[in-house]
Amino acid sequence: MLSLVYGMVVSGSAQLLFSKVKSVEYTLCNKTVTIPCVVLNVEAQSTEEMYVKWKFNRTYIFIYDGGKNSSTPDPNFSSAKISVSDLLKGDASLKMDTNDAAVGNYTCEVTELSREGKTVIELKYRTVSWFSPNEKILIVIFPILAILLFWGKFGILTLKYKSSRTNKKIILLLATGVVLTAIVVVGAILLIPGENPVKNAAGLGLIVISVGILIPLQYNVFMTAFGMTSFTIAILITQVLGYVLALVGLCLCIMACEPVHGPLLISGLGIIALAELLGLVYMKFVASNQRTIQPPRKAVEEPLNE
Ligand SMILES: *[C@@H]1O[C@H](CO)[C@@H](O)[C@H](O)[C@H]1NC(C)=O
Ligand SMILES: *[C@@H]1O[C@H](CO)[C@@H](O)[C@H](O)[C@H]1NC(C)=O
Ligand SMILES: *[C@@H]1O[C@H](CO)[C@@H](O)[C@H](O)[C@H]1NC(C)=O
Repeated sequence: MLSLVYGMVVSGSAQLLFSKVKSVEYTLCNKTVTIPCVVLNVEAQSTEEMYVKWKFNRTYIFIYDGGKNSSTPDPNFSSAKISVSDLLKGDASLKMDTNDAAVGNYTCEVTELSREGKTVIELKYRTVSWFSPNEKILIVIFPILAILLFWGKFGILTLKYKSSRTNKKIILLLATGVVLTAIVVVGAILLIPGENPVKNAAGLGLIVISVGILIPLQYNVFMTAFGMTSFTIAILITQVLGYVLALVGLCLCIMACEPVHGPLLISGLGIIALAELLGLVYMKFVASNQRTIQPPRKAVEEPLNE
């Protein structure tokens, strides 16, 4: 028993030991891919004593011959290389361009004088989605909420401010509102299900860009109803700022490959919806106040109308 343990220790010392990594993954965002291979007990004093071979599945794809100090990558993995200067520290990791990388098992075989060892690392590919499901829901909820609030204001407009003077404008607002609602619904259908990056990006673009239509819509609702006041101006400025934030977020999301700017985009959309809510509350407030003021106004207007 003792001799068996002793034997294992002795044969262990003739083996190179590797830090254990079962798999690594890469995404669209990795320009280069590094497959780690670190020997823990290197004793070589010079890279001349070392020999490194990398296998992809069953085929050798890279050979470093320390005696000749030469690296030979397979044509299919032409960018593959190891860092010779790190070899004495035990680092025989294989680096290559992501274009050359293929999913599968990579075997790192290191020989150092009479000692040798190998380790297998699996390279996996992971698709990155721009947004988590929760973020996607917020990206859809805020514009839909904003549109519902717009329809609320539209309702007040048609109930309280309908006249021959405003009819044309109301029809125009109705048509634009319907188009906007349709675009956002189509955008949501493209964005929410699945991980298809092209469809998702198209849906996101449709929603974020078209939601800006709410700004001229809100402006025209105010103008048709009672014109500009300092409060409506403040509401519109808030909404423009929200839209700018959402657009900046959209650009950053499209340019970056990892989704780090989702919160910016979402807060922009949230501010747009908030401005829409303030607009509705204000309009309700003004409309209910105007009813009490209306009789004297009507008395002035009636002679003009008839
Ligand atoms: C891909 O990039 C990420 C982030 O930079 C990094 O953590 C990961 O190790 C890379 N994957 C590979 C296989 O090189
Ligand atoms: C091996 O070659 C590299 C350049 O290809 C050089 O930087 C390094 O010093 C050489 N190492 C030895 C031990 O000759
Ligand atoms: C290199 O790629 C070609 C074409 O894809 C393939 O036929 C060949 O088997 C590959 N060689 C190795 C060593 O993987």
